[in-house]
Amino acid sequence: MPRPGTIHPMPAPLFADLAPAPPDSILGLTETFRADRRPGKISLAAGVYLDETGRTPIPPTVVEAERRILATDTTKVYKPIAGDPAFTNPVRALVFGPDHPALAEGRVEGLHTPGGTGALRVAADLVHRLRPGATVWLSEPTWPNHPQVFEAAGLAVRRYPYLDLTTGGLDLARMLGALDRAARGDVVVLHACCHNPTGIDPTPDAWTRIADLVALRRLLPLLDFAYQGFGDGLAEDATGLRAMTGPGITLLVASSFSKNFALYAERVGALLIHGATADEAAALLSHAKAVVRANYSNPPAHGGEIVATILGDPTLRARWVDEVAVMRGRINGNRARFVDGLRAAGVAGGPGARLDADALLRQRGMFSLLGLSSGQVARLRDEFAVYVVGGGRINVAGLTDANLEPACAAIAAVLRG
Ligand code: LMR
Repeated sequence: MPRPGTIHPMPAPLFADLAPAPPDSILGLTETFRADRRPGKISLAAGVYLDETGRTPIPPTVVEAERRILATDTTKVYKPIAGDPAFTNPVRALVFGPDHPALAEGRVEGLHTPGGTGALRVAADLVHRLRPGATVWLSEPTWPNHPQVFEAAGLAVRRYPYLDLTTGGLDLARMLGALDRAARGDVVVLHACCHNPTGIDPTPDAWTRIADLVALRRLLPLLDFAYQGFGDGLAEDATGLRAMTGPGITLLVASSFSKNFALYAERVGALLIHGATADEAAALLSHAKAVVRANYSNPPAHGGEIVATILGDPTLRARWVDEVAVMRGRINGNRARFVDGLRAAGVAGGPGARLDADALLRQRGMFSLLGLSSGQVARLRDEFAVYVVGGGRINVAGLTDANLEPACAAIAAVLRG
């Protein structure tokens, strides 16, 4: 015991030998991009919608909802652990479709979560609580944060084939072959629409075959629904979800409102639980609430109130549906212009072209995966100030009149070596 007043040399820090963790492969790039001082730098990296001016605007319906909330809010008291029914009820109808029989049968429960990532983590913790030995099956490739979320919850992660490099489409046969070897109760993570990073979605027929296998093998599907409305439409993008909700199926859905409400920083999402029975759904909800209580306790209010205000008012809701359609139209238009730009740069479409223009045009949502090596991705960034995610994932929403031609020229240059 040192005597009071004795001066001691500074002890070594507790984490003196700690090597820094690597930056996040997507959000870390945004930080590097912000620090890049080169004029004309182009970010096609993070999955964030950008308009023609390169900004991510606040939709007018969100501004109006915030005005109403500020005018009427009288308290900042805690939300319920699962969130307000004023949020979870319209969200269930949005995600499943208002006429989905499971809603009427009381088989869908919902929790308001901090973003879609928060919903994934609650789902992961829930699975770990109920079946710690379950394996989580992820598509190859997938969003780089998927393995991190499930491994952080203590679950084992494996991959199923997804991308067919020869056709640039879905490798359904190999996907089903791998999932056929999954154990009963294993989790299959599926991207409900706008697959991240490939933009390749199953056809309705492929969804049916996936759903049949999931039912046969008694797997637990977890749909990551981060881009509802950015593919073919709010209802159309739920085609896969509807195919997966057959009788006897227990299903989890992680929804995000970062993109379709542009509420990125507000962190608004939902975990929806579709039970085979109403009792199962209620029991799963009770365990999910226990998981939430031990993590962030209850959800942050503001973003959820915005979503609830918009979805709860028929006029605001209709205007929001139009806003989503405008974003979707720009994304799909940009994809077509991107492919034209790659054709003009001589790397897509023609004989011997390195990129398959038709495959690129069939993809949906913000992303395309160009299949670039890490060297090519680094060259794009270092030589041309064009930022893309590993593997050459491009966010087509980041393309504008001003940057389309230089972006395509840079991609063509690195593809030619
Ligand atoms: C992305 O994939 O870029 C987005 O989902 C943002 C994120 O959190 O990674």
